[in-house]
Amino acid sequence: MKFLRILSIFLLAAVCSAADLTGNWAVKKPLLDGTYNWAYFNLKQEGPKITGTIRTTQFYYKITDSTGGPDDFTVTASMMDGKNPRKVTYKGKLVGDDELHIFTERRGETTEDIAHRAPEGEGAMPARVDPPALHKVPDNGLAKTPPMGWNSWNKFGHSIDDAAVRGVADAMVKSGMKDAGYVYINIDDTWEGERDAKGNIQSNKKFPDMKALSDYVHSKGLKLGIYSSPGPNTCAGYEGSYGHEEQDARTYAAWGIDYLKYDWCGARILYSDEEMQAIYQKMGDALQATGRPIVYSLCQYGRQEVWKWGADVGGNLWRTTGDIRDNWDSMTKIGFGQDEHAPYAKPGHWNDPDMLEIGNGHMSDTEYKTHMSLWSMLSAPLIAGNDLRDMTPAIHDILTNREVIAIDQDKDGKQATRASKSEDQEIWVKQLADGAQAVALFNRSDKDAKMTVKWADVGVKETPKHVRDLWEHKDVKLGKKSPEYSTTVPGHGVVLLRLGK
Ligand code: GLA
Repeated sequence: MKFLRILSIFLLAAVCSAADLTGNWAVKKPLLDGTYNWAYFNLKQEGPKITGTIRTTQFYYKITDSTGGPDDFTVTASMMDGKNPRKVTYKGKLVGDDELHIFTERRGETTEDIAHRAPEGEGAMPARVDPPALHKVPDNGLAKTPPMGWNSWNKFGHSIDDAAVRGVADAMVKSGMKDAGYVYINIDDTWEGERDAKGNIQSNKKFPDMKALSDYVHSKGLKLGIYSSPGPNTCAGYEGSYGHEEQDARTYAAWGIDYLKYDWCGARILYSDEEMQAIYQKMGDALQATGRPIVYSLCQYGRQEVWKWGADVGGNLWRTTGDIRDNWDSMTKIGFGQDEHAPYAKPGHWNDPDMLEIGNGHMSDTEYKTHMSLWSMLSAPLIAGNDLRDMTPAIHDILTNREVIAIDQDKDGKQATRASKSEDQEIWVKQLADGAQAVALFNRSDKDAKMTVKWADVGVKETPKHVRDLWEHKDVKLGKKSPEYSTTVPGHGVVLLRLGK
């Protein structure tokens, strides 16, 4: 017995001294918000070969190639979700028995991180919970017209914090945006902290007290929205709701949250696109079980024809596209690409071509008017994405044009469709509840263009009695029997009309 013990200690010592890379190595880098960036190198050295996995916060890789050994090695690893071709390469060396020095090269610069031994299993991909069977989640009765509000991501990204949210809420009221119909103040990614010992999600240092923040936002007559992912991590690498769906929904309800944007991103590591519906249903059920009215916003970039099942999982809106950018090409590619989704928009359930970029500085005011008009024609959620504390009068006027907002908020919720297109000019028409039509003349060319709308082409039989230009805030004078209306539309601009009987 004693001999065996001595032998095993001797063998262990021999293994350890044979400078082997085998082990679970962790680098934990603190961020200013109190959370961490993680990297785990779970390595196995088999002779000259190094195998294993690498996790860098939300990204999981499998090592596919290696050269060298403990004194100097290189490993190349491929993303584990199968679809993403992304590869990463790390160089490293073992120093003593507990330091793995990792060298990362980025844009010609090398950084060195020191990883230490971590318990086996720490940082590993969580076990997969199979998706539930499909059923229909009852309608929550919310968002009868497209939600209007503000979201932090487009302007603030990672830098959003409690003070900025309060400032934006103040500005929402002061600027008259609240009176124009904007109500939701939505915090996007990067608010999340660690879970406590009971698994409750906590906010990070940037948001010291979520309940107090929601009380503040509510005291202004506004509502508060939050963000999470069905995956273990969010897009930005923060804690997701995976395995804690019901618990998180209860936490949001206790904080007084009124809107959840639920972003697929981190879930792709565990689930296929075909399983999305069931995974979104899970949170749909969890939100309803809280008993609090919470608008449910699906963010999975329009995959799996979400417009066909978004309402069935309890969704009030669903993204139909990838992320918008603050430029003409991105905005128009998204906005003018929405025609086929029109039949699926209805009160309570909306196509979401992503948040507004109006006022973020990389389009002209004319282009932002096109953005506002197009989104309103599409019955799209009007979620401003600029810094409301600092708006030019022109941007303020675009965002608060009540005649345009009324087109978006029409109670029938019929999304516009394309009536005609020639070269760079397009005419879209939207049927309104009172029998009127909204007609938008869009000029996608960068030169001014004369455009003509024939009433017959937009489904209007007789010359409309009342034609209103919603940006000029003026009635348009027409001959009694004129079959059409012609006007000059500025390059990248729009003329938005309301045809009344
Ligand atoms: C994704 C979403 C964005 C935003 C970011 C946050 O890219 O599509 O709207 O929420 O994640 O990480």
